[in-house]
This record gives sequence, structure tokens and C-alpha cells, in this order.
Amino acid sequence: MTISHEALLAEADRGAANAYAPYSKFHVGAALLTKEGEVFRGCNVENVSYGLTNCAERTAIYAAVAAGRREFTAIAIVQGGDAAAAVQPCWPCGACRQVLSEFNIDMDVIFREGAGYKVTKLRELLPHSFDAERLQAK
Ligand code: THU
Repeated sequence: MTISHEALLAEADRGAANAYAPYSKFHVGAALLTKEGEVFRGCNVENVSYGLTNCAERTAIYAAVAAGRREFTAIAIVQGGDAAAAVQPCWPCGACRQVLSEFNIDMDVIFREGAGYKVTKLRELLPHSFDAERLQAK
């Protein structure tokens, strides 16, 4: 990894600063690291038709794929704003776990925890996932 975990978390903070969350007021930021060391930021983007909301993680991945990147090694995810972010990790929702796994189920997932951070593998957050091998087995 070309930048530190802390630096990637700081990029995720910058993503959270752009969150559009007037309904939930829950600001989320993500920073996705490419194999080449570029960072793509994301934030949640809510909608008055609530179900159309896009999570921060998917915003980041869609921005990166739209820019032509497909190889990702890590994602940092933060809750924006305040001390609440440090209370517990900002786990990605099920939909985002599945979308991230499309590109690399072995990527690192980095969260704030307490005064520090923790790193886990996406594979640990999405065991027994639905993947392309299953399609080929039909
Ligand atoms: N949210 C994310 O951005 N990422 C997640 O993984 C979980 C939830 C957003 C969606 C919504 O705008 C707000 O958090 C509350 O659910």
C-alpha cells in the first residue's frame, strides 16, 4: 500500500465532508485505494425518495470505475463529523460489501475504532459470497 492507513482514513474524512445527508444526518465518507496508489473519495448522497440513496462506498467505487480503474487494494470508511465516529467502526452495508467484492474480495477495509483504527479483509465481512464462479457452475 502506497499510503498509510491513517492517510487513507484522512481521505475518507474529506469524502465525509461532502456527504449529502439532509434526511438521516448520518455523514459517511469512503476513500478507495487503487493498485497504482490513487485515491477515489466517496460520500453518501441521499434523496427525498429515500430508497434512491447511494452509500459512500458505492459512490467511491463508481467514481473510480468511471475513471477507468478496476483494481483496488483498500478502502477506508468513516462516519463524518464528531466523536460518534470513534465509538464503533462504520461498517459497510450488505449492498456495498457485495459491490466492493465484485472487484477484490481480498481488499483491506479500514475503520476508525476508539482513538485508533482497525483493518480487516472484505472477505471476512462477506463470507460465502455470491460470485462469478457460481454463475459458471450452472
Ligand atoms: N450509509 C453509507 O453511506 N454507507 C454504509 O455502508 C451504510 C449507510 C449511509 C446511507 C444513508 O445516507 C445513511 O448512511 C444512513 O443510513
